[in-house]
Amino acid sequence: MNIEANMKRVQSAKSTSLTGTIFAPGDKSISHRAIILGAMAEGETRIDGLLEGADILSTIGAMRAFGADIYRADDGQWRIKGCGESGLHHPREDIDCGNAGTGVRLIMGAASGYALTATYTGDASLSSRPMNRILDPLRDMGVTAKAQKGGRLPAILTSDGDLSPIRYTPPIASAQVKSAILLAGLNINGTTTVIEKTPTRNHTENMLSAFGVEVSVKQRTGGTEISVTGPAKGYAKLTAAHVSVPGDPSSAAFLIVAALITPNSDVIIKNVMMNPTRTGLFECLTEMGGYLRADNFRKSGGEIIADLHVKYSKLSAITVPPERAASMIDEYPILAIAAAFANGTTIMDDIGELRVKESDRISATIAALSANGVSCEDLANGMKIKGNSGHLVAGGGIVTTHHDHRIAMSALILGLQSEAPICIDDGSMIATSFPSFFDLMNELGAKITAK
Ligand code: S3P
Repeated sequence: MNIEANMKRVQSAKSTSLTGTIFAPGDKSISHRAIILGAMAEGETRIDGLLEGADILSTIGAMRAFGADIYRADDGQWRIKGCGESGLHHPREDIDCGNAGTGVRLIMGAASGYALTATYTGDASLSSRPMNRILDPLRDMGVTAKAQKGGRLPAILTSDGDLSPIRYTPPIASAQVKSAILLAGLNINGTTTVIEKTPTRNHTENMLSAFGVEVSVKQRTGGTEISVTGPAKGYAKLTAAHVSVPGDPSSAAFLIVAALITPNSDVIIKNVMMNPTRTGLFECLTEMGGYLRADNFRKSGGEIIADLHVKYSKLSAITVPPERAASMIDEYPILAIAAAFANGTTIMDDIGELRVKESDRISATIAALSANGVSCEDLANGMKIKGNSGHLVAGGGIVTTHHDHRIAMSALILGLQSEAPICIDDGSMIATSFPSFFDLMNELGAKITAK
């Protein structure tokens, strides 16, 4: 059975056990950043383990349009001849970022540091997502930005390459906003500072250091101040680097929850990034009583990685602390699936940001669970899920994925422990972040098939 060829409708059915040792796919956040910084740097950047998902391919296409030479070598390593001192070029075509929110927001920031005009577009999901969170601070820096109603794409951004530095406190905890401002700030004469009240993933800061840029991080009473200082003239000096992309904890999350809810499962996932700004889900699952052990800690590409051992477990409900949200912002849909099998009612609140991800993930998750017999509630800013103490859910529902890869994968994991198979309307979006999902799941013993 070839799921690739028949990608649209996919179903998952009751599976008896998941076993085996697999490698987590490359991290999406790190992959975007490696391509963008490599395109800005002087010299040849080499990237091992790049996630070759559709989102990253969109970012590669975008950075090629700005003038970088990016290709995949025969050995699978990606190489980038960056624009360096000549700077990003004025693109001749629209910058189509596909489904990638991280891609478009970081690229809008990075490109704003150069004298150019670019038109940014995306698919239906990306075109419905708010961009003012990036456009407003960029306008404060001096960028002219024209967008659709509500700050939606398509957007045209023009910079004269002579922006002013800002000190900015984002109204929401967002690594994308922080990163866009810092990337623009690289080429601004003076010091650009982002003040974070809640820490978000720090991959941009880490990777800038690997490309030879000094990033200042200071703890102050009002929060963490993260600053970059641009040169008085010319472009910032980023020196090409060798990046090894660690495994994505947000993708490993689906494999972990699948093993936790499927009786007799015993799975090892190798090379998972353990940066504490990304591991909130692992804390939750451990608190719920899940068998999840990390060992063989080591460093790869400037990040800590480990191998995760996960076994089927009886789970108990928790109330997720809202302050943990930033470190697990993409993991709530899959946590909701784990919660459906726990003993008791799990509450996740203060997560309104989920409404503006690739889909409204609160309502999409609640709809997916309700369609398959799980008792749950859509709270104004969160979700409440009544677990069934490890019994099978009814299943039999068709889940609308709204072009959202994480809703699609979460629904398929739910189907592994359902009486009747669960079908999703469209599995194609899974390729944005986890193209090897079907192969890895079936290798472990999951019954996931094209319909
Ligand atoms: C990301 C940041 C998060 C996350 C997204 C990836 C990043 O978005 O949801 O999938 O790589 O910076 P926000 O910064 O908007 O929370």
